[in-house]
Amino acid sequence: MCGIVGYVGSRSALDVVVEGLRRLEYRGYDSAGVAVISEDGTLQTAKKAGRIENLDRELAGVTITGQTGMGHTRWATHGAPNDRNAHPHTDSFGRIAVVHNGIIENYAELQSELEHRGVEFRSDTDSETVAHLVAAELAASGGVLADAVRAVCRRLQGAFTLVLLDRDHPESIVAARRSSPLVLGIGEGETFLGSDVAAFIEFTKNAVELGQDQVVEIRSDGYTLTDFYGAPAQGKHFTIDWDLQAAEKGGYDFFMLKETQEQPSAVADTLRSHFVNGQITLDEQRLDPGVLREVDKVFVVACGSAYHAGLIAKHAIEHWTRIPVEVEYASEFRYRDPVLDRQTLVVAISQSGETADTLEAVRHAKDQRATVLAICNTNGAQIPRESDAVLYTHAGPEIGVAATKTFTSQVAAVLIVGLALAQARGTKYGDEIRAEFANLQAMPAHIAKTLELADSVRTLAREIADSKAILFVGRHVGYPVALEGALKLKELAYMHAEAFAAGELKHGPIALIEQDLPVVVVMPSPVGRPVLHQKMLSNIAEISARGARTIVIATEGDELAAKYATNLIEVPAVPTLLSPLVTTIPLQVLAAEIAQARGFDIDKPRNLAKSVTVE
Ligand code: AGP
Repeated sequence: MCGIVGYVGSRSALDVVVEGLRRLEYRGYDSAGVAVISEDGTLQTAKKAGRIENLDRELAGVTITGQTGMGHTRWATHGAPNDRNAHPHTDSFGRIAVVHNGIIENYAELQSELEHRGVEFRSDTDSETVAHLVAAELAASGGVLADAVRAVCRRLQGAFTLVLLDRDHPESIVAARRSSPLVLGIGEGETFLGSDVAAFIEFTKNAVELGQDQVVEIRSDGYTLTDFYGAPAQGKHFTIDWDLQAAEKGGYDFFMLKETQEQPSAVADTLRSHFVNGQITLDEQRLDPGVLREVDKVFVVACGSAYHAGLIAKHAIEHWTRIPVEVEYASEFRYRDPVLDRQTLVVAISQSGETADTLEAVRHAKDQRATVLAICNTNGAQIPRESDAVLYTHAGPEIGVAATKTFTSQVAAVLIVGLALAQARGTKYGDEIRAEFANLQAMPAHIAKTLELADSVRTLAREIADSKAILFVGRHVGYPVALEGALKLKELAYMHAEAFAAGELKHGPIALIEQDLPVVVVMPSPVGRPVLHQKMLSNIAEISARGARTIVIATEGDELAAKYATNLIEVPAVPTLLSPLVTTIPLQVLAAEIAQARGFDIDKPRNLAKSVTVE
């Protein structure tokens, strides 16, 4: 998830673009860069790792005049967050500049084709490939930039927003989109491009949303929109009715609410980059391919929500590979003197990649000669750097302190790791892995459908916002979901919340049940593991009999569960091991809505930090 700005008009392109990047910095801040076609006909570029301030220092004292330009704030996916990988990228002759948001899945084969034609790459990114391909297309066809971009887009696989400048044509900018955001801003004698409206809202509220597989050429007097084959296409005109602050939050009051809604794309992007040509792939594997095959034990280490994703990993990895899995809080791991050796795979889950407890656990595992695989959302962070292999989630920056889209992306990632281990060890056939992955690829749509429940959950939240406590119960993968729901409520609403394995209730916790006490029950599907469903029905009956208010998260159409529910929240029917991707959603919304009912800032909960870099 990166920030992109483009401009053609009568103002200083550099000023418009840099200001627009500042508004989009929440979309990514690993690096920033600009490209402007200056009045002397040269293509001027500047780029720097780190936040916009670093780019400002790079531009200090430099005069770049010109009314056509673009810029980019990067959230790194391919290639570490450094100067050389910062956007924009240019072709070998400095005629074409490109900025990119997304993942080009077939970049490796395209890059190899270009290298065989003598192209020398200067970055580790998938994006640079586009600059060289477009330049080659222009050289071969002698056509215009828009035609060259359309021809190249027809060859790309994956998700992308591309914006390109041609030094020899300062009158226009060309952009393309597939499964990645891009909107136009239509001004008086000027036209803007942005990843979202925050890029240009201070100049115009007249906008056009682009559709799938479209190419647009913008000029100061308007734009031309086509599909990837040149046929005229339509965008969706709208008038922006947000102020700037709301625009940065996508119209929501808090980043967390926006990020909760971004979960379908965050999970889709995480899945997209790890299943190529029928094979599960990791991002970086500094491992001998045979290592995964020899693994005879897995240890998952993590904190907080990441730990809950680890508990779900245990069920999937043990079921798909028959390898024993232990899951341990990172802060406990190295003090318990764990039994590790070269055949142990330690999976370190951390969205920030900087959590001190998890980093120290990684270092301990490496000292014990174990192999470490990191699951991280932040390219180039310390934990991935010190690990042997890395699988990145692609949730984009998460500004809210509470983990939402990074949690569901971690769940998707641990399921991918489970399939990668099964693939390496041959415990599942290729067609079985393909079928499991197809189930995963259907999950973003199920998550989107579940998010439609937000209004009904909001009503429920208002009713129980003054409860003195809320309990959560679940079994199997429903138990980590119950733990995650309790954590969300604690950290957002400062309410006492506790989760139990439902089978444990009768061993003590049931003494907590009293009249009207809200108890959230995470029900397994009636068909996935019928015995689990039957046991949970007994648990709900025990709770109901003691007067509790049962809030039941159940598979749609589960009539038996409905019988015992004071409030029933129905989620789509999905495979058991994938169900946390939908059952977690109502619990995120419930916690956020209770916290708002209590008047709290859900982006910045008291006492908490987004990344805990102290032990
Ligand atoms: C979860 O909502 C919290 N923000 C917190 O528990 C978080 O999951 C934990 O601190 C781990 O952070 P990490 O994923 O960056 O390592």
